[in-house]
Amino acid sequence: MFDKEREAIFDALAAEWSCLPGPPLAAALELLDALELEGKVVLDVGAGTGALVEAGLRQRPKKWICCDLSSAMLAQIEAVWSGNPVVETLHADAHNLPLEDKTFDAVICNAVLPHLRDRLRALTEFRRVLDVNGKLLINHFQARSRINEIHRNSSYRLLREDILPPAEVVAAELTELGFEILQSVDNEERYLILAGKPE
Ligand SMILES: C[S@@+](CC[C@H](N)C(=O)[O-])C[C@H]1O[C@@H](n2cnc3c(N)ncnc32)[C@H](O)[C@@H]1O
Repeated sequence: MFDKEREAIFDALAAEWSCLPGPPLAAALELLDALELEGKVVLDVGAGTGALVEAGLRQRPKKWICCDLSSAMLAQIEAVWSGNPVVETLHADAHNLPLEDKTFDAVICNAVLPHLRDRLRALTEFRRVLDVNGKLLINHFQARSRINEIHRNSSYRLLREDILPPAEVVAAELTELGFEILQSVDNEERYLILAGKPE
């Protein structure tokens, strides 16, 4: 099960995105600080061109696995980070992760959630690969209204349907799946859900 349609779109977008600035380093560091990633194994789902990798490595994780549907996005990461033994790339669909149960301390999903066509299935996958006490971080450095405006105006018809739901909706889904909600923000500046896997 590979989302071939979105894969083709993101492959096409990879070259232009590699030239775009990512989030400010200070903002990315602040985001990741809360996860206490030192010595941890991290899955960066929908890693794109690697916007969080530099900040991630500063947290001194044991492994930082960049997973993406788009091999063209991953090629941008490899071009920068292939010499770093902590960073690995994984060409996979978030709905069907080729990863063993309970192997990650953190799953990070930055600017990816609206693109997941079967959100419940992907969230279930995130829970499966997280170890007990592991954390799932869903984040957008912009307001939900802005994200949805950008997607509704996309030149790609398919992406116009990629709408980010209110955090309370996603938090309820996560609770139903057995996550514990640790933080939820959905305001004019930010969208963030931090959830823990208690058992
Ligand atoms: C808006 S970009 C975000 C990239 C990066 N996380 C960032 O913060 O800049 C969305 C990324 O999610 C990836 N993506 C979309 N659907 C996916 C899926 N089902 N599985 C894995 N990656 C996916 C896309 O290829 C793209 O690289």
